[in-house]
Amino acid sequence: MSTVPGRKQIHLAAHFPGVNSTTVWADPRSGSQIDFSSFEHLARTAERGLFDFFFLAEGLRLREHAGRIHDLDVVGRPESITVLNALAAVTDRLGLAATVNATFNEPYELARRLASLDHLSAGRAAWNVVTSSDAFTGENFRRGGYLDRAERYTRAAEFLATARELWDSWTPDGEQRPFAHDGPQFRIEGGFPVPRSPQGRPVVIQAGDSAEGREFAASAADVVFTRHSTPEAGREFYADVKGRLARYGRDPGDLKIMPGVTYVLGDTDAEAQEAAAEIRRQQVSPQNAILALEQVWGRDLSGHDPDGPLPDIDPDPESALVQGRVRVADPVGVARKWRVLSEAKGLSIRQTVIETTGRQSFVGSPATVAAALEECVATDAADGFVLVPHLTPGGLDDFVDQVVPLLQERGVFRTEYTGTTLRSHLGLPEPVGKGDTP
Ligand SMILES: Cc1cc2nc3c(=O)[nH]c(=O)nc-3n(C[C@H](O)[C@H](O)[C@H](O)COP(=O)(O)O)c2cc1C
Repeated sequence: MSTVPGRKQIHLAAHFPGVNSTTVWADPRSGSQIDFSSFEHLARTAERGLFDFFFLAEGLRLREHAGRIHDLDVVGRPESITVLNALAAVTDRLGLAATVNATFNEPYELARRLASLDHLSAGRAAWNVVTSSDAFTGENFRRGGYLDRAERYTRAAEFLATARELWDSWTPDGEQRPFAHDGPQFRIEGGFPVPRSPQGRPVVIQAGDSAEGREFAASAADVVFTRHSTPEAGREFYADVKGRLARYGRDPGDLKIMPGVTYVLGDTDAEAQEAAAEIRRQQVSPQNAILALEQVWGRDLSGHDPDGPLPDIDPDPESALVQGRVRVADPVGVARKWRVLSEAKGLSIRQTVIETTGRQSFVGSPATVAAALEECVATDAADGFVLVPHLTPGGLDDFVDQVVPLLQERGVFRTEYTGTTLRSHLGLPEPVGKGDTP
C-alpha cells in the first residue's frame, strides 16, 4: 500500500550510535565506530528503509572524568562532514546531516564545506547547528576558550545568516556575485568559490532546548532535533515551537520536529521488555553506574559499591570533576530525588541509575512499536523520529526489516523515495532561491 492521503506522514532519520551513553560496546555484535564499513552499513540500512536522513552528532573534545577520558569516549570519533562525503558515494537518496558547532567554526569555511557536500551528494546535505559554549571544548579553538553563554545563539543566528548570504551569492543562473557581511560577530567580504548547490541552501537542523534555542529554530531551522520523546513532553514542546513560527511568517509544516528516540523490538511485547531491561543493564554497567553517580555528585565515589546504597554525602555543586559534558542544573535536587526513589524501592546505586536515566522510548513487538510511533505523530507529539540504535553498526537492521513495512501498511510512511533531495523527503520547498525565505 502506498501513503494514505490525509494521514500525517512519519519522517525517519538514523543517528549513528558512536560516542554517547546509549551504545553498548560490550555486545559481541558491536563493531568499530570509526571504520568506514560501520558508517556504510548503517547508512545503507537507513536508505533501504527509505529514511529521510542519516545523522552524525559531534563532540569536539572527548569528555573527561576525574582527569581521564570518560570510559564511553575512549573509542574516539572522526570528523562528520568528511564521513558524510564518503557516504555520499555509496548512497543515492539518503539525506546526510552533520552536527557542526557555530561557536567554534567560521561561516566562510563551513558554508564552503556544506555546499561541497550538497554538490557531491546531489542535494542531500544538512547542517545541525549546535551552540556549545563551554570553555573546556573551546580550549581547542579559542584563546581563553570561552564564549559567553548568552552570546551563543546571537553568534549562531548571525553565523547562519552569513552562511546563507554566501550560498545566495551565486544566482540560480550560475553567476557569482561578491558578498559583504558586516555584523557584530562577523565582518567578511569577498567571493564565495562554490557554485549554487542543488538544494540552494543545505537543510538546517537545530538542537538545543532553551527559549533562545527554540526561537532560533522557529526563525531559521527546517528540522528540530529534540530530547522531548515522551508523548506528553513531545506535545508540549511541539505546540510551543510550532506556535513560534507565525512570528517569522512561517507555516507549521515548514519546520519538522523530530525527537531522538531509542527502541527495543521482540517477537512479543514481553520478550521486548525483557530484552530492554537487559540492554539497560549493559548500558549501565557497574563501572558506568559509578561514573553516572559521580557525574551528579561531582565527587570521587569510586570506593562505593555499585550494588550498595547511594552515598550519604551531598553533591558538590561547584565541582569540575566532569569536563565536556553539561552537568545537571540542580545536582542537589537530583540527588534528593534519587535518594527518595532508591529508599522507596530499595534500589542499589546501579539500579537507581538504570531507573532514572535513559529508559528506552519504544519497547514492544514490531506491531506495538509501529502503532506507538504512528500515535505520537498523529497526535502532534512529533513529525517523526531520529532513531538512536544501541548497536554499531547493525542496530537499525531489525527496525528497517520489521517496523518500516508495518508503517507502510498503515499508510503513514513512504514506499519509495519520490524526490532526490533531502528537502523533498522532508516536504520542504526546493530548491530555495535567493529571497525565498528569511
Ligand atoms: C537532542 C540534542 C542533541 C544535541 N546534539 C549535540 C551534538 O551532537 N553536539 C553538540 O556539541 N551539542 C549537541 N547538543 C547541544 C546543543 O546544541 C546546545 O549546545 C545545548 O543544548 C545548549 O543549548 P540550549 O541551552 O539551547 O539547550 C544537542 C542538544 C540536543 C537537545
